[in-house]
Amino acid sequence: MPDLDLEYEASRTLRRIRPKILEQVEGADRLQNCSYAQHVETIDARLAEHWPRLFALLHRLYGKHYDFYYYLERILLTAVDCWLNRPEDLCQQDLRRENDPNWYLSERMVGGSLYVDLFSDDLNKLRDKIPYLNDLGLTYVHLMPLFKDRQGNSDGGYAISDYRNVHASLGTMEDLRALARDFRAVGISLVIDFVCNHTSDDHEWAIRAQEGDREYIDYYHVYPDRTIPDQYEQNLREIFPTIRRGNFTWQDGMQSWTWTTFNSFQWDLKYANPEVFRAMVEEMLFLANTGVEILRLDAVAFLWKQMGTTCENLPEAHLLIQAFNAVCRIAAPGLAFKSEAIVHPDQVVKYISTEECQISYNPTLMALLWEALATRQTKLLKQSVGHRQHLRPGTVWINYLRCHDDIGWSFDNDDAWAVGINPDDHRNFLNNFYTGSFEGSFATGVPFQHNTETGDMRVCGTMASLAGLEQALAAKDSQLIEMALRRIRMLYAVLSSIGGIPLIFLGEEWGMLNDYDYLTDKEKKDDSRWVHRPKMDWSLLKELKKKKSVRARIFREMQELFEQRKTRAAFTGSQMRLLETDNDHVISYLRWCDGAILVVIANFSDAPQTINMWRLRTEGLAHFFKDCLSERIISTHDTLDLEPYGLLWLMED
Ligand code: GLC
Ligand code: GLC
Repeated sequence: MPDLDLEYEASRTLRRIRPKILEQVEGADRLQNCSYAQHVETIDARLAEHWPRLFALLHRLYGKHYDFYYYLERILLTAVDCWLNRPEDLCQQDLRRENDPNWYLSERMVGGSLYVDLFSDDLNKLRDKIPYLNDLGLTYVHLMPLFKDRQGNSDGGYAISDYRNVHASLGTMEDLRALARDFRAVGISLVIDFVCNHTSDDHEWAIRAQEGDREYIDYYHVYPDRTIPDQYEQNLREIFPTIRRGNFTWQDGMQSWTWTTFNSFQWDLKYANPEVFRAMVEEMLFLANTGVEILRLDAVAFLWKQMGTTCENLPEAHLLIQAFNAVCRIAAPGLAFKSEAIVHPDQVVKYISTEECQISYNPTLMALLWEALATRQTKLLKQSVGHRQHLRPGTVWINYLRCHDDIGWSFDNDDAWAVGINPDDHRNFLNNFYTGSFEGSFATGVPFQHNTETGDMRVCGTMASLAGLEQALAAKDSQLIEMALRRIRMLYAVLSSIGGIPLIFLGEEWGMLNDYDYLTDKEKKDDSRWVHRPKMDWSLLKELKKKKSVRARIFREMQELFEQRKTRAAFTGSQMRLLETDNDHVISYLRWCDGAILVVIANFSDAPQTINMWRLRTEGLAHFFKDCLSERIISTHDTLDLEPYGLLWLMED
């Protein structure tokens, strides 16, 4: 194909499609509130800014299709149609966010995620819990998948049968919209998954494919025999090897193999087909129009397949997300994307940019916080965050300790070697430490997806059980309990200050322990992630009245950290720089934004530590600091003694 003048072609295409856009605007119901001319002005301005980018992306992805122009038109008209159906209050919010595009960088952002059924039974009861969420300090609430899903095992809702209907036992779409409105009214952003890599095997598209409809067979990767799957398989990893081997599933009805990266009932979508992209744009914008403010893009690493590669993190996966992003800038500009790429740290960052995902899970930090806790050493943590924590302007990390998934030790091998650690041995040690086979470990966790061929293994367990509270409570040992509580507070203090949005998995605020009941449920027993998805125990609220309650202390300390975070401008965004303390058990870093600065010091060891404060002075910082959390004044002339798991947030005094 000769080189195209993309800019010219983009504007020519837009000129051709524009009459149809104007027709859509003319026919829109929303015109009652706002004039035709104003609407045309808005959409023209957005298209002038974002269409050339969307055009170029789609051209790279789909330009070779003989009917490319047809898809371009369909994709653009779909976007405009969704924009015209966007509720007025969300359009107003879009305007505000277009003027304040960095809203999610704010130090006020504090996140929580929950399963609606396990937390509050249903959506309406969740609305009653808004004061609770507010009181805890949350401004971002991620609801785990709550749409209609397949019966029996549905991978905790990640096998979606219908993106447009809430699971009947949780409520209705109208309940979800009402919840989003109530959240907005108290400054909580609703976050929901866009499960874009796969559908359930009983989604209408999959059913039509099973009925032999070629249009829909083409939505998925379907093969009549093992020839092609076997070729792909040579380079693929297995995500759930203890549940099922390989990445393809035989479908008796269709007499074919389908690509299923995760469970056998989660069929990967074939994004090489532009119709799949268009159809998913429609689902995505439908979700956006319910009032979702941040979409969690699930399993992004797997979106594109190409023979001879690992089919993870391919360049086209990035182009696809960028194309989804460009569509949002046109139809729902208030929406931000959060990437869920639980892959090597060099790959994780590639999804993060204002034009792709503005927000991303920080799985490397998560793993290394647990690593430092186990070893009482901060050298690998420092080695990694020293060059990996920094992000481009306009983007931000989500820092978390636990989520609904397992912990994988996805740190970089070279980072490990650089501090004298053999990475594979270390992963074995960490697996042993966190699953209880390491003598003297404080943690109570369970193995996940142990692959006996490769030796790979991941770990499950709640935050509190992994941090030692389960063992300490069982032993009724006040010293062990004290250590577990300190570990927990120190971890959240780092999480809330190191740069990015802290995110808890609800239940952590009470230090909820592992729940082994999943072993008695036949749909769950093979998936140990259920051990750390306990049902919320609302009786714990009573603990708040008891002065000496262990649980109340976790709640209050967390609440206080979040409150403090929100008043410190230095915690905006992700800018941070490590400070040297000459102590391998301690991490210290500087945070700053505009004129505000803050120094954080955290001791990862169960023994007292001493650090030299003069290093801070050589940084040009003040002679005296005040710890925001204890109000203690600290001089940089002396050495500083830190308690076991001691922790300071220092501001210049
Ligand atoms: C994501 C989810 C995980 C799920 C998988 C497949 O990684 O976090 O829970 O199993 O995607 O949807
Ligand atoms: C793998 C995937 C990740 C998923 C997880 C579920 O790590 O990369 O997307 O959340 O498996 O266990």
